[in-house]
Amino acid sequence: MRISVFGCGYLGAVHAACMASLGHEVVGVDVVEEQVASLAAGRPPFHEPGLEQLLGEALATGRLEFTTDASRAADAVVHFICVGTPQKKNENAADMSYVRAATETIVGLLKPGDVVVGKSTVPVGTAEVIAERIEEREPAAELLWNPEFLREGHAVEDTLRPDRLVYGIRQGDGGARAARVLDGVYAAALAAGVPKVETDLATAQLVKVAANSFLATKISFINAMAELCEATGADVTQLADAIGYDARIGRKFLNAGVGFGGGCLPKDIRAFMARAGELGVDQALTFLREVDSINLRRRVRMVDLAREVCGGSIAGRRIAVLGAAFKPHSDDIRDSPALSVAAQMQLQGAQVTVTDPRAIDNARKKWPDLSYADTVEDAVRDTEVVLLLTEWPEYVGLDPVALKEQVAVGRIIDGRNCLDPATWRAAGWTYRALGRP
Ligand code: UDX
Repeated sequence: MRISVFGCGYLGAVHAACMASLGHEVVGVDVVEEQVASLAAGRPPFHEPGLEQLLGEALATGRLEFTTDASRAADAVVHFICVGTPQKKNENAADMSYVRAATETIVGLLKPGDVVVGKSTVPVGTAEVIAERIEEREPAAELLWNPEFLREGHAVEDTLRPDRLVYGIRQGDGGARAARVLDGVYAAALAAGVPKVETDLATAQLVKVAANSFLATKISFINAMAELCEATGADVTQLADAIGYDARIGRKFLNAGVGFGGGCLPKDIRAFMARAGELGVDQALTFLREVDSINLRRRVRMVDLAREVCGGSIAGRRIAVLGAAFKPHSDDIRDSPALSVAAQMQLQGAQVTVTDPRAIDNARKKWPDLSYADTVEDAVRDTEVVLLLTEWPEYVGLDPVALKEQVAVGRIIDGRNCLDPATWRAAGWTYRALGRP
């Protein structure tokens, strides 16, 4: 099938490469020239495990191209909208300018029978507006809403083998026909038994933000329990293990620590609250305000803990921060708890050195005032406190005995509850963590 993908960021670049790897002919369109040039040369502009290889293989078949020239998409029969919907400056709502621009470009290309597939995370009601716009320009084309649930760091496998496929379909023959076209695009996943939910446009749009809100709530729930644990001397990791054995609760996404960040969960819950307000049902999502507050409080608590272990002040103290990415296996630093804590400590007068296996370049651009080191050894040398804020496997596997030799004072704060306290204490470290005695 000839497919176009509008927007070649995390979502679109992975989607385009994966669709080409399945045998489709794909043209990826983006307005950012460097991004297109980098992808066309087989170099992903961000770190995503497996993507570089997939991209190289797909480009070599000749079935995948990247361009800034939208007219290259004119002979595609399925057009995916994969552009970003970042948070607006100083507002909770999503910035819809990229979705509007991509829609205008796509409607200018439509032919009878074409299918437009929305994948971007949007405020509910957006798809209906896009459908009207399509109807005005090409009544014999159709819109489907097909949200994406990919996690950074697992984007390739999440795209090729998703947990589920959701189709938002308009009533009528056009909608049903379009859904069968999308079945053709996802034939491999459907044949492998991936469950599919066929629903209306509104539900499909809500599924995505509801899923992310639930995940954010789960993380903030366990972080709220961590606050209780701190007040009572209890251990949040054991609490999570114990409640997680209940199959109705489940252990996943119950890791307490410095909280969630990234380009999705924080902005999605905020945009969802903003949309609920517009719809007159803001009370339904008031709890998300608390989810957001709990999450941000963990960053403050982390700085407080650093101050506590330093005896009341971090001014002038040498502190190492392990991790800059918002989570491991990613170079994404958007709303990264690690960098937010590092910057806060720096503002309070500490001498902070940050290291990360992948995200240093991005971090340096965003926070040029922080000091960076390429290796853990360089970052921790002569420091008085080490904060582990992104649980990269290489940090989880650090040898506390060897590391102790390099620091001035052995104090570790485990911001992700990913180290074994007994091993670190046995090696002579003062071990502290969020929600643990
Ligand atoms: C998320 C959703 O998981 C994905 O389905 C959606 O499509 C996009 O948003 P992503 O942002 O890639 O994906 O990261 P995710 O793995 O969900 O982690 C989000 C944040 O939560 C990270 O900062 C992570 O460190 C944090 N987290 C996750 C916790 O603090 N505790 C946990 O138990 C799990």
